Amino acid sequence: MKVISIAGSPRQPSRSTALLALSQQWLTEHGVEVISYRLQDFTAEDLLFANFDSPQLKTLISELASADGLLIATPVYKASFAGALKTLLDLLPERALEHKVVLPLATAGSSGHMLAIDYALKPVLNALKAQEVLQGVFAEDRLIGQYQRFPAELDSTLQVRLEDALETFLVALGHRHALTQARAKHQPTYA
Ligand SMILES: Cc1cc2nc3c(=O)[nH]c(=O)nc-3n(C[C@H](O)[C@H](O)[C@H](O)COP(=O)(O)O)c2cc1C
Repeated sequence: MKVISIAGSPRQPSRSTALLALSQQWLTEHGVEVISYRLQDFTAEDLLFANFDSPQLKTLISELASADGLLIATPVYKASFAGALKTLLDLLPERALEHKVVLPLATAGSSGHMLAIDYALKPVLNALKAQEVLQGVFAEDRLIGQYQRFPAELDSTLQVRLEDALETFLVALGHRHALTQARAKHQPTYA
């Protein structure tokens, strides 16, 4: 099974990226191939001026096409997800997330904006035709310590919530993968 991860914070070090890194490690330990991207892997001009010919963008799109899922992390900025991440999502093709399971992760200064994933990020993921967007993991900053180095220290309640979400993600990925394999097997071949 293959997952693409996108770290959507414009800043480094980053709490949301630290949460993502722990999730990546967990998935790798459970036999999932994770291919990771950060916003910083893309040229700022390409994102800002919507350069659809960006080589990095083309690589991401082609990796996404063969992935079973997407793990996406963002900070909450002004009650929504990071605008810089939106500039990247804007450049993906309309069906980029078709047949994929998505697990969103978000960090924020306070719990006041814990619905940001639901009202801001999920509609965009749905517009990209995600098959299934799982219940995301929202974490307040105070629950993530030592995020400047790996591994960050998570509050025990957050640790449990993250592992629960990753287990659900793993099961959903398994279903997706099996379905994709079956579909490929029954694809008619023309001589
Ligand atoms: C420009 C900016 C806007 C922010 N807006 C909010 C906000 O509206 N609500 C909130 O709870 N936290 C807000 N925060 C705090 C961040 O969401 C929080 O610190 C987050 O964990 C940062 O993630 P990162 O370290 O991955 O960039 C904001 C931070 C910045 C820099």
